[in-house]
Amino acid sequence: MRGTPRLRRLAPYGALAVLALALVACAQEYPNTTFQPNSEYGRAIDFLWDRLLFFGTLVFVLVEAALIYVVFKYRRRDETTTPPQTHGNTKLEIIWTLIPAVILVFIAVPTVRTIFETQAKAQKGALEIEVYGRQWWWEFKYPEYGFSTANEIYIPTGRTVNLVLRTKDVIHSFWVPQLAGKRDLIANRTNHIWFTPDSTAPTTVWNGFCTEYCGASHANMRFRVITVQPNEFASWVQHQQSSAFFSTAPAPAAPATVTPAVATAPVDSTGKPVVAEATATLATAATQPAATPNVPGFIIPADKVPAYAIPETPIPARIKFDDKLVGDPASGEKLFVGAGTCNACHTIKGSPMAVGNIGPDLTHIGSRLTIGAGMFKNDAKHMARWIKNARVMKPGNIMTTLGKGEYDPQLKNKMTAGLSDQQIADIVAYLAALK
Ligand code: CUA
Repeated sequence: MRGTPRLRRLAPYGALAVLALALVACAQEYPNTTFQPNSEYGRAIDFLWDRLLFFGTLVFVLVEAALIYVVFKYRRRDETTTPPQTHGNTKLEIIWTLIPAVILVFIAVPTVRTIFETQAKAQKGALEIEVYGRQWWWEFKYPEYGFSTANEIYIPTGRTVNLVLRTKDVIHSFWVPQLAGKRDLIANRTNHIWFTPDSTAPTTVWNGFCTEYCGASHANMRFRVITVQPNEFASWVQHQQSSAFFSTAPAPAAPATVTPAVATAPVDSTGKPVVAEATATLATAATQPAATPNVPGFIIPADKVPAYAIPETPIPARIKFDDKLVGDPASGEKLFVGAGTCNACHTIKGSPMAVGNIGPDLTHIGSRLTIGAGMFKNDAKHMARWIKNARVMKPGNIMTTLGKGEYDPQLKNKMTAGLSDQQIADIVAYLAALK
């Protein structure tokens, strides 16, 4: 019994450790946990995990208990006696084959069932979203509504969402711990994953991640999923479908003259729609083509964005920028669509010169929560530095270094041409205006 006093001495430490663990579990919020699922998919996986943990623990405890019992009971007590030697025991062998078989049934049945459930096709009427993994950001398309967004999706509660997963380059993996995942985005293959955010889920933001190593900025390939109520979703969709709300033309004095043409187009006696005079005038006055006018819509209010959804990635110290500069959005727009700059890679719906598809669609960038694929808070401070030197902000980034005199870590030289801080401030003001 030499071991007992030592065990007694260690016991308080063990108790303390257990207590500390319990306290930690209570005191902290875990936004990226899979143990608080908010969809049927998440619950199916969670149920499976619970069951596996239960049976795994049961087997472990029983086997270890039996092992310890046998070790102590039959340990060698003196040097002279030899224990009885036996070979084979049919009864025992049948028992230890049957017990695992029964346990396996309890594990295998729900496992196989969950695999079939989660691999089945999504039900009809599901909201389809095409997901394209790109180094290192997420392109999201809503084919049903005809618009694209990046690094951020809104989904209505209570409606099944069917994600069509593809990659434009290497393998990525889609994961929103509290909703669903993980599932890979593989070249030359289309994967699917579907889930239904609970109809009781609040209007809030969930963190999403790439969980397949995909290169230098794999850890910086994040996204946000925003669950909203069905009416908020309808409003958001209308807004996203419309063109960017920015024009160098004077803003319409009375927005009421625009609204009727969007909501209910007046019809003449033959049933043909009549274009309201006011709208026609407005369209010719605008510098942008007469695309769908901007429809104000739902954007998640700041007080509904949980703290965990706001990134805190520090800005690299070597990028200097004068935050006191005041940008002019009209000059910013001219710079944006100037030859071979931003517009070569980015689309801004309603701006005929900005139709690039190398970088994210920026139509409503001003309404997004983050930039750089969930890496930085979307505000003037971060946007300015991002434009100035995106490759220092995010390793491996293909976005060109635009700040004049900035060191490009990929080209390994200083940019002799480029934008001044004032020009950057102008572009920041323009982008921030694109709500
Ligand atoms: Cu994409 Cu890791």
